[in-house]
Amino acid sequence: MSSLPVYLYDTKQIAGHCNKIASIPYPQKSIHFASMANSNPEFLHFVKNQGLHIFVNSLKHLQLAEEVGFAPDQIVFTASSVDYSTLDLLYGKGIRVNLDSINQLNYWLGNYPDSLPGIRCNFDSEAIQNGRAGYFIGDKSRLGIDLSDLIDLDAKDKIGGLHLYVGTDITDIEYLMKFYTTLTKWAVHFPNIQYLDLGGGFGVDSLHPFDFERFGANVSDLMHSFSAIMNREIELILEPGRIVGAEAACFLAQVVDVKERAGRQIVVLNASLSQFPRPLFYPDEAHHPVQIFSPDGNPKPVLVQRKVGIVGCSTYSRDVFAETVLAADVQPGDVVSFGNAGSYCASMFTEFLGFEKPKELFL
Ligand SMILES: Cc1ncc(COP(=O)(O)O)c(C=O)c1O
Repeated sequence: MSSLPVYLYDTKQIAGHCNKIASIPYPQKSIHFASMANSNPEFLHFVKNQGLHIFVNSLKHLQLAEEVGFAPDQIVFTASSVDYSTLDLLYGKGIRVNLDSINQLNYWLGNYPDSLPGIRCNFDSEAIQNGRAGYFIGDKSRLGIDLSDLIDLDAKDKIGGLHLYVGTDITDIEYLMKFYTTLTKWAVHFPNIQYLDLGGGFGVDSLHPFDFERFGANVSDLMHSFSAIMNREIELILEPGRIVGAEAACFLAQVVDVKERAGRQIVVLNASLSQFPRPLFYPDEAHHPVQIFSPDGNPKPVLVQRKVGIVGCSTYSRDVFAETVLAADVQPGDVVSFGNAGSYCASMFTEFLGFEKPKELFL
């Protein structure tokens, strides 16, 4: 039986990304890896050893974080509608929590007046130009507490932190800074604030890699200015997910069959999209560079380009990994590699269709 499909991680690359994020010059900072991007315990152990903390959005991932050994003060919990029993549990464990509604806030303040919660913030902004940003922030988003509602509350001095998540896969640093700057303008109204959590969203683009040096300089300047206004050092929290591991892994599967149809080659893998579900969840945004190798591991010789559909071996009609153009003569036994497979890939595995969860190997 083939040892494929498998996810293969290059830990040096993961370490490189952790170092880049950690090099943000602002001293009072805490970097929390977003566990939804990759919840493999080995991955979490690795980033923990690199000095990262963790951000979770569910009880299951909280439990995982604890099993991996993250201490309560290394965990941030931000979700949307957190039920009261979960809030009780988080308070009991002393875990930093960002609340997402006025109901949750009232419950927290009524029951735990000794502990200052954080708030997941929302506000509308002219900077929200494209449709995708609206899922995360602004009037069309379902998330967060509208800061204009919060500003009218008496409880402003009971808020310990403000959290913002602008969106995902963003490489435009000015775009991010516009939101962060707006947040600091609101934040001055909260006298006991201890931290600003600016979320994640740092984009993966091999042609224009995220410029952490520029980002770090801009964010540090902003945090220093904000701290000066508040007369104390405010902690910076970040929650990077995708960027930490995305480019550090590939998903490998073996070709089991090849068919010809209407001038197109159909390459069938010994795998299913349920094992690599990002193209299913995000059909327009999942870009995973394809490479073909012979069974001996060598790249296939370059030939004339042709249209190819790379598909799974289930009967699900949408089990299509990629519709692409390849310059290789693909044969059964060859190996297909999909790049950018280290984030939001293995963690999206679904039992739909009955395929095994692929192994994940860390080199
Ligand atoms: C609140 C929050 N923080 C951080 C992240 C990680 O985002 P990214 O992987 O884009 O860095 C997410 C992802 O959904 C999120 O919802």
